[in-house]
Order: sequence, then structure tokens, then C-alpha cells
Amino acid sequence: MAKASEERSMTSRIAKRLFHTGLLALALGLAGCEVKSNPTQEESIPGTPRLPEVAKMDIQADGPGLGKAVYTKWCSICHSDGPGYPGTVALTERYKGTEISGVLLKRTDLDPDFIKGVVRGGLFNMPNFRKTEISDAELDALANYLASSK
Ligand code: HEC
Repeated sequence: MAKASEERSMTSRIAKRLFHTGLLALALGLAGCEVKSNPTQEESIPGTPRLPEVAKMDIQADGPGLGKAVYTKWCSICHSDGPGYPGTVALTERYKGTEISGVLLKRTDLDPDFIKGVVRGGLFNMPNFRKTEISDAELDALANYLASSK
């Protein structure tokens, strides 16, 4: 009698263990899928670096070249001129029928504070950027560069 109940509790312990391992595997599997279905990765163009790769690139500029360097590193992969850049595609669609260009560098109407707000807060499909990615000084340079680019 005592033996049978011991066996039963043993079985249930094993079952519990298996159940938890299964849950863990499921969670890991789901986490894996999430990484794969990252929209920025799907939308990126063959040959263009993905954001995690971009993050490892060094910015080697200061002074007047800083804004352009920050733009090239973080923004050009989505906002360059041409088909297939998600930022340019979205903005071209949004400003269809107006004078406003879908290409960020061709804009003459952008205010530095607006740019900073979009970069820190994100906008629909556009990711936001943290201070660990783009520092406040880099963001200032970037916003001034874009606000003055024609
Ligand atoms: C992963 C792609 C992606 C990256 C990287 C990206 N953007 Fe965007 N950006 C978008 C998309 C998409 C939109 C359009 C959002 C919408 O309205 O649907 C957008 C919109 C904007 C707008 C709004 C323009 C307007 O007229 O409303 C600004 C400003 C902007 N981006 C600046 C930047 C800057 C500066 C960077 C670099 C720090 C950057 N973006 C990086 C995808 C991106």
C-alpha cells in the first residue's frame, strides 16, 4: 500500500518535471519565433545591414560631420532614396499628391524638435532609439543636420 502511493507520487513528480521542461522548450521556441518575425528584419533590403549589425558600427566623426555620420549609421537603412526603403516608402505614400518629399534628406520642412521627438518616441513602424544607441549630443547633431539638409 505504502509502496504504491510512493510510486504514484514518483510518477507525478516525473510528469511535473516533463511538463515544466515542455513549457520551457515552448517558451524558448516562441522566443525564437519572435526574433525571426521582427518586422525590421523582414523589411530590410538584401545587402543592407540589419539594425543589430548597425548597432555595432562605430561612428567616427565629430563636429560638423557628426549629424551626417549618425544619419548614415541609424537612419539611412530605412530612409535612403529608392524603392524598398520602408521609411521612404511609408512617407512617399503619406505625402502623395503634396510637394513634400518622401526622402528624409530632401525635406525642407523638418523642425529639429520634431525629429528628436520621432527618434526618441518612434512612429508607427519606425522604432524608437534610446540614449544608449543615439546619445543626446548625437541626436542634436542629427536633428540639425536633417533640419538643414535640402
Ligand atoms: C526600421 C526603419 C526605420 C529606421 C531605422 C528609421 N526610420 Fe524614420 N521612419 C520609418 C517609417 C516606416 C516612417 C513612417 C512612419 C509612418 O508614418 O508610418 C518613419 C518616419 C520618420 C519621420 C517622420 C516624418 C514625417 O513627415 O512625419 C522622421 C522625422 C524620421 N522617420 C526620422 C528618422 C531618423 C532621424 C532616423 C534615424 C535615427 C530614422 N527615422 C530611422 C522607418 C525608419
